[in-house]
Amino acid sequence: MTDAATANAAFTPRVFSGIQPSGGLTLGNYLGAMKRFVEMQETGIETLYCMVDLHAITVWQDPAALTRNTRELAAGFIAAGLDPAKSMLFNQSQVPEHAQLGWIFNCVARMGWMGRMTQWKDKAGKHSENASLGLFGYPALMAADILVYHTTQVPVGEDQKQHLELTRDIAAKFNHDYGVEFFPITEPVIEGAATRVMSLRDGSKKMSKSDPSDMSRINMTDDADAIAKKIRKARTDPDPLPEALKDLDDRPEARNLVNIYAALAEITPQAVLDEHGGAQFGAFKPALAELAVDKLGPISAEMSRLMDDPAEIDRMLADGAARARTIAAPILKKTYEIVGMVGA
Ligand code: TYM
Repeated sequence: MTDAATANAAFTPRVFSGIQPSGGLTLGNYLGAMKRFVEMQETGIETLYCMVDLHAITVWQDPAALTRNTRELAAGFIAAGLDPAKSMLFNQSQVPEHAQLGWIFNCVARMGWMGRMTQWKDKAGKHSENASLGLFGYPALMAADILVYHTTQVPVGEDQKQHLELTRDIAAKFNHDYGVEFFPITEPVIEGAATRVMSLRDGSKKMSKSDPSDMSRINMTDDADAIAKKIRKARTDPDPLPEALKDLDDRPEARNLVNIYAALAEITPQAVLDEHGGAQFGAFKPALAELAVDKLGPISAEMSRLMDDPAEIDRMLADGAARARTIAAPILKKTYEIVGMVGA
């Protein structure tokens, strides 16, 4: 057993993860996170999934767009296969314990730790004087999201690894400073062929909802024509697909399309090459487009059906939040007691 596994043996296994409602859902969010959330739901472990609206507002969000994006994300969760009866689905602002524990963690985390986060450096860039304080403290709130449920496992894409390491550092420092074994040392779960889905225009950049080029990403709401067009126009090299995976090491764009195919078809990247090795992109791209339309079409149709009834989405989120609070409230209360707050 790893040190973390030993330390966590006392905690009930529990899964938490979050997605920002800061724009449309991409294929990267779906393959790197959401599809895996569904798999974890089916293991029978308690699962909580959150639309992290408090994180979204660390950069400007138009209020009406935030509301719409939160509901659309909730619809995406359900359309992808999350069952609100099995998983707790809710938006972060409805469970105030996240922000309350976030404050405690603002006082545990160190400025230096935050300043080293690559997301902070990327998003604030040279204009850090003008970035919000919330953006700087973002990882402490993320640690609170996770630890307010004593979460043991967090499924995420590769880009969240550093934030999860920081979550472990915050838990360890809290436990050490107060002389307790109260917070678990959470395990990141970064697995599968699609932990880092890359831009369709540039194999060195991750696929992102904030990329200015819509051709760089597949949105979960794209129709069949848009999906086929984006895959047809995806940047590649002139060589056919190889037979062996290692021959894709220096071909990031080709590797990305093979990974996407593997994740959608639920096979390994090598199995994709067993089937398509030797094929030109002129033949492989249409096969990938057909697979993508086949897998994503039903999800996007279900999303738009669910979006027709926003009141039902809101009801479902309120129910998820109420259930989540029954776990979070006693953990926050105990945290306040440990810290020495009167009346906790
Ligand atoms: P966010 O909203 O940027 O992304 C949500 C999830 O999607 C994954 N992801 C990708 N995976 C593979 N390839 C890609 N191109 C790609 N793009 C996004 C992300 O890794 C993530 O798992 N900070 C988080 C939200 C958050 C959170 C949390 C996550 C807040 N609190 C607590 C886990 C636990 C974020 O910005 O994700």
